[in-house]
Formats: sequence, C-alpha cells, structure tokens
Amino acid sequence: MKHDLLIIGAGPGGYIAAIRAAQLGLNVACVEKEPRLGGTCLRVGCIPSKALLESSEKFLEAQKVLASHGVKVSGVELDLPTMQSRKDGVVKSLTDGVAFLFKKNKITRYEGSAQFVDARHVQVGEQTIEADKIIIATGSKAATLKGIEFDYDRVGTSTEALSYPEVPEHLVIIGAGYIGLEIGSVWNRLGARVTVLEFLPIILPGMDGEIRDEAFKMLKKQGLEFRLGTRVTGARATEKGAIVEIEGGEPIECDRVLVAAGRIPNTDGLNLEAAGLATDAKGRIEVDAHFKTLVAGIYAIGDVIAGPMLAHKAEEEGVACVEGIVTGYSHVNYDAIPAVAYTDPEIAGVGKTEEQLKEAGVSYKKGTFPFMANGRAKAIAQTEGKVKILADAQTDRILGVHIIGPRAGDLIAEAVAAIEFGASSEDLRRTSHAHPTLSECLKEAAYAVNGAALSL
Ligand code: NAI
Repeated sequence: MKHDLLIIGAGPGGYIAAIRAAQLGLNVACVEKEPRLGGTCLRVGCIPSKALLESSEKFLEAQKVLASHGVKVSGVELDLPTMQSRKDGVVKSLTDGVAFLFKKNKITRYEGSAQFVDARHVQVGEQTIEADKIIIATGSKAATLKGIEFDYDRVGTSTEALSYPEVPEHLVIIGAGYIGLEIGSVWNRLGARVTVLEFLPIILPGMDGEIRDEAFKMLKKQGLEFRLGTRVTGARATEKGAIVEIEGGEPIECDRVLVAAGRIPNTDGLNLEAAGLATDAKGRIEVDAHFKTLVAGIYAIGDVIAGPMLAHKAEEEGVACVEGIVTGYSHVNYDAIPAVAYTDPEIAGVGKTEEQLKEAGVSYKKGTFPFMANGRAKAIAQTEGKVKILADAQTDRILGVHIIGPRAGDLIAEAVAAIEFGASSEDLRRTSHAHPTLSECLKEAAYAVNGAALSL
C-alpha cells in the first residue's frame, strides 16, 4: 500500500490533519490502534469528562439551586448507570462522526499499532505501508509516579475515574491540575469526599495567579479538600480500598485513587530508531516550527512534541503541518492558544499571565471586571468570578486575558480572536457587545484597562 501521507494516531491532532490533507487533495491514510477513532480526547478525555461535568452539575442544581428559581423538586436521586450510559452515548456519536468523516474524505484507515520499518515504511500487523510523508500524532498517556502501584481499578488514571461504577466514599486525587480538578468536581458533586494532594503550594500551575487563587477559594467552598505542598510517595490497592503514602505524614486510607500528575508522550512501540528518530529527556520528539523532525519526510504534532498537551493545540498543529506540506507555508501562534479548566465556574486564559509579564520585565496595564456587576450573570444567578485583561503599557496591545466565571471557556474565544488580530484594549471596548450577555464583562474589563469600567 502506498500513500502520499500516513498519519499515526487518530486523536484531535491526527484526525483533523487527515481530513485537512484529504481536502487539499492528498491520498491520506491513518493508523489507529483503538477500534474507535478520536483518540484520548473523544474516547476517555475531554468529551466524556464534559458529559459527566454537565450531568453532575444538573444533579447538584436539582438539589441546591432550582428552589431559588422557584422550581420545586423533591426526591432527587442519582442514577449513575444512566449518567454513565448518556456519557457513553455522547462519546459514541462523536467517534462515529469521525469514522463518517474519514469515509466522506476517502481516508484509508488501518487498525492496529504502527511500527516504523524505516523512514518511509510503517508496519501495521501483517501489512507494510509506504508513504511519502508520515506524521506522528500518537498523543500522550498518564504519567506514572515512583511508588504508585496501578491496578487500574482502585488505583488508576482518568480513564478509570470516568467510569467508576459507584460513587466512591473517599476519592484521593494526586495532582491539582486540569484532570484532578475536573474529575474531582464530578465526584464531589455526586457525593464523594474528595481529597486532592498537590506537590506544589498552588493549584493549576501555569494559570494566572490571581485567577488561580480565586479558583482555589471557590473549589474549597464547594467541598474539595486540598493538601498542598504534599508529595505522594506511594499508593496501592488494599483489601478494602486503597492507601496513599505521603512524605512526612500519615498514610491516607480511601476507596479509590486517581493519579492525575501530568501526562507523558506516547512513543513506546513506534520503533522510532528504525526511522532514525529519537526522543528527548521528557520523551518528546523534536520538531522545527514547521513540525519537521530531524528525519526528512517525518513530522510530529500534538502531545508528542513540546507545548501544552491540549486537543486544540494539536488540531492547530495538524492543520498547519499539512498545509505546510502542501503549500510550503505553516504557522501556529502559540500566544493565541487558550487553556480552559471546566470546573464550576470555568477558568480560562490566553496569552501571557501577570507573572509571565513581570518575569519578562514587560510594563503592562490591567483591567478587571466582576461578573457580580453584569446583568446577565445576575439573571442566571452565576455571579462568581471576574475577567482580567492585561495590555501593553505603551501600545495598549492585549497581551493576556484571564477569566474565572460562567462560560469562561466560551467567552475566551473573543479574547483569542483579539490577540490573534493584534487588538488593543481600546479595540475591544469600542466593539459592540450584545446586551445582556456575559461577554459584556470583557468590554467592561477593557474599559477598566484605561480608566474605569462603566458599570462599576
Ligand atoms: P497537569 O500538569 O495539569 O497537573 C498535574 C499536577 O500534578 C501538577 O500540579 C503537579 O504539580 C502535580 N504533581 C506531580 N507530581 C506529584 C506528586 N508526586 N504528588 C502530588 N502532586 C504531584 O496534569 P493533568 O491534570 O494530569 O493533565 C494532563 C494534561 O492533560 C495536561 O497537560 C492538561 O493540559 C491536559 N488536560 C487538559 C484539560 C483541559 O484542557 N480542560 C483537561 C484535562 C487534561
């Protein structure tokens, strides 16, 4: 079998790259070892977690929020099997959707694990596939920690934590990053006691400090227990549940342990050496700005290369890589890649944080606006949080936008577009925003950058 382009991995990086390449006229093939297309994101990551976040939020609303809207409900009960099967249905419809898109775009699909034979040939089962160009888009897997004995039941990763058959009485989560806080929120809302152990003195490292501090307070108020500055040295299943050992403290007994201490690139078994490739100390594949590896004709994108391990970052890279191959031009603006934690409220950011600007010695202006002063936020009774805009002190160009509040993950899109177009805070404040919408908080924060917000 010979193709113009072979993509290894059908996650958001790989399947988007395959579709774009087919649109641009290449004869494209994609190898995926799982029966379902869509990668970690669709099968056991972004999508199922968002489905459970939504369902658990509804459960909480029915118990604690609806009455304040004048909607009386009684006898609220959790039906976890239905919640899980709804989630499975959402996943199925999306993975089926990718399979449909592959057919529609005449992308050849190989099912199995790919191994390089040389720089132009890949072995999948009995078949040897030849391609002019190969893109490695194999994603990442949960990092293991020394002393953790995974049984992938009592002690497991996010994959298991998205399918627990019962609500754990006590869930211990190792790592206060995206995965820990999102999945911790789900089980906390469904009634579990959730303890998050974090090695650093902060949660969500990498996010803007002011926003992070607010998130910490809000999540604590919701009932998540945090033990910061806590290094986990071991975890294992016991007869009754599991036990977690920490440095300088008593071991913690619990029902289940979720290890969410980061992810590592997935390159095992690819036989990279046969293609003349190697990985760096963190297991990543080195690429240039056009996603070219050190071997001509082989490219890499997404979680297997440097940068944040985010589905949409992989998508941008997939499209840029393929367009680069076909047109000779490709570019990804890493300052305009948003990050979103889908907690309640959501937390979202794009561009530089205040800490990064200080460290780089950039002089900046700051404008903030609280959701508390926004009409729509009041109407939907979701008034926690704020929008913060950071702009260059001399040019007024927007350098970073950070939001904690309702629908922050959707609101950040406007800030991403503003940064992509090199907008100033004045551009943003002069842009009409529909009233009453949550997006008016961005406009108000932009006013606050150069003086004062209108409605505060
Ligand atoms: P993360 O890197 O976001 O957080 C891991 C946390 O674990 C860090 O705070 C780290 O300090 C802590 N940690 C590491 N070793 C530890 C130890 N021995 N004891 C206690 N704490 C320890 O990683 P996470 O949450 O596992 O997510 C993995 C990747 O998946 C991230 O790159 C993230 O961007 C991505 N992701 C993105 C989501 C989103 O965009 N909403 C959702 C879920 C994952």
